[in-house]
Amino acid sequence: MARRLTYLYFAALLLALCVFAPALSEDAVPVWERRVTLHAGFDPERPVPDETVQHLLRAALSMPTGGDQAALRFHAVEDRDTMRKMQEGHPYASALSTSPLVIVVSGDMADAYYPELLEMDAGLAAGAILMEAADRSLATCVLSISPQEKRIESVRAALSLPETLRPILMVAVGYPSEDARTSASIRPLDDVSVTFVPGEEEQ
Ligand SMILES: Cc1cc2nc3c(=O)[nH]c(=O)nc-3n(C[C@H](O)[C@H](O)[C@H](O)COP(=O)(O)O)c2cc1C
Repeated sequence: MARRLTYLYFAALLLALCVFAPALSEDAVPVWERRVTLHAGFDPERPVPDETVQHLLRAALSMPTGGDQAALRFHAVEDRDTMRKMQEGHPYASALSTSPLVIVVSGDMADAYYPELLEMDAGLAAGAILMEAADRSLATCVLSISPQEKRIESVRAALSLPETLRPILMVAVGYPSEDARTSASIRPLDDVSVTFVPGEEEQ
């Protein structure tokens, strides 16, 4: 009886380890430390599941916007030909040669109360996409579009965007291929990047 109980105990322990260990180890590393950039070497054969695409877009839409203007518009593009057309006017968009997905973030000038804040809105939205992607083991690459007119025009043409939509940036997303070389420059809290201004009691 005692031996059977011991076996049962170990079996339960093993099961608990199998179920909880992966979650524990992922949680131990903060999501921003799991972010990786890929300029080339996404796995083009491994699409981003539709449900995940929805999560990425929801993350972007969860971010605040200047004056709550909510004038960002998103295009989730999986079509390689469309990506090729975007690359025509963008000399630094190698990520689009292999990424199975790119999310284009545009500002709607007709709906914007504060057009001068749209680029900041887009930056925050992109940050949220990067974090959500990292949390799902996806690599990303931010590609700027605005203010270069050539890039704006090629993206506008590829997506048949109306004149009121100004593409600002895009985020290539996908799983890294096996031999991909990812990067992630995580800078330390040093005197160059950060200045602390302590309150009076702390001085
Ligand atoms: C605003 C912005 C614009 C960027 N534009 C491009 C781009 O046009 N093409 C590109 O390959 N990477 C682009 N990047 C990616 C940066 O080059 C990348 O963040 C940098 O290499 C450091 O990446 P890491 O911190 O993940 O290593 C852009 C990044 C940001 C934040």
